[in-house]
Amino acid sequence: MKGVLLSGGTGSRLRPITHTGPKQLVPVANKPVLEYAIEDLKEAGITEIGVILGNKGRDEIQDLLGDGSKYGAEITYIVQGNPLGLAHAAGCARDFVGDDDFVMYLGDNILKSGVTDLVKSFQAGDYGAGIALQEVDDPQAFGIVNVDGEGKITELIEKPDDPPTNLALIGMYIFSPAIFDAIDNLKPSWRGELEITDAIQSLLEDGHAIDSHVVTGWWKDTGKPEDILEANRLVLEEMALTTAGVIEDGAEVNGRIELDQSSTIKSGAVVRGPVSIAENTTIKSGTYVGPYSSIGANSTLKNIHIENSVVIGDSQITADGRIVDSLLGRNANVESAAELLPEGRRLVVGENSQLKL
Ligand code: TTP
Repeated sequence: MKGVLLSGGTGSRLRPITHTGPKQLVPVANKPVLEYAIEDLKEAGITEIGVILGNKGRDEIQDLLGDGSKYGAEITYIVQGNPLGLAHAAGCARDFVGDDDFVMYLGDNILKSGVTDLVKSFQAGDYGAGIALQEVDDPQAFGIVNVDGEGKITELIEKPDDPPTNLALIGMYIFSPAIFDAIDNLKPSWRGELEITDAIQSLLEDGHAIDSHVVTGWWKDTGKPEDILEANRLVLEEMALTTAGVIEDGAEVNGRIELDQSSTIKSGAVVRGPVSIAENTTIKSGTYVGPYSSIGANSTLKNIHIENSVVIGDSQITADGRIVDSLLGRNANVESAAELLPEGRRLVVGENSQLKL
């Protein structure tokens, strides 16, 4: 069994963060989203991994993952270029996959329970594909399955107007090489993409059995800023956090804190976990870092009160104010205005930014 990790796409819903880098490298609890997927594949015994690259961020992704040896994996890069759909991305992996079965994992998804059970369930039968499902509140926004009385999949429909169930396909799939013929015969959908749901439906119509596995535990697609914050909360909630850095006398720290050994919480700062603080970062006097915050590397926080937020890194945040429920891109600086007049907020904001003042 091989792994195919989708790391292309546009990432339009995560702008402006994705103007400069791929969304799969946005950190959740100070770890790029993509690394969670690699760890899940590794845990399921899959070490040959093909990483699909889009047009953006190819160098950054390759710089991070390298040849895969640091994860105990062997990584092959496959260029998809334009995001022509999940089925198109899968089709790009044909030569890499050869005659093997493969797990296809969306590189911006995080799954609490990993893919081991999905793989075991697929391997226990004779299936053309295996899909991971979860009940969702808004089935019109997903690929949805219909099932018969015995729970067998009878139909797959992409974003139905009138969903027969609320069982949605989530971002992990297993395919036999039969999927490639199904992809070859696909026509683009109304949104101009080759849909993986249509490819699986065509496998079903050709007589292949489709295994399904309802995932318990949370699953998060990190496509939007609020999803990153929620994924960050979910991961911090459960992660084993280790405090290796310096906590000065006079600093007030409670709850679970991950503090890199090169980072410091200074006297007069207050940190309430769960919080993750990456390398070379200083939390100075007068700062409050509240629950469910991840503060990236090479940053200085002073005076600010920040909570339920992700600071990606290389930031100076020294304003005398409160930041909540926020995602701050790399190199974002937030300081107090030195000028007294005219009163007001002074912003240099990228395209597609969202501010709530
Ligand atoms: P999506 O989040 O569905 O698409 P997107 O990245 O274009 O995002 P947006 O809608 O915000 O513009 O993609 C799911 C995952 O699959 C994500 O990791 C990107 C990846 N992907 C590809 O690798 N190739 C593709 O052709 C598409 C559509 C997605």
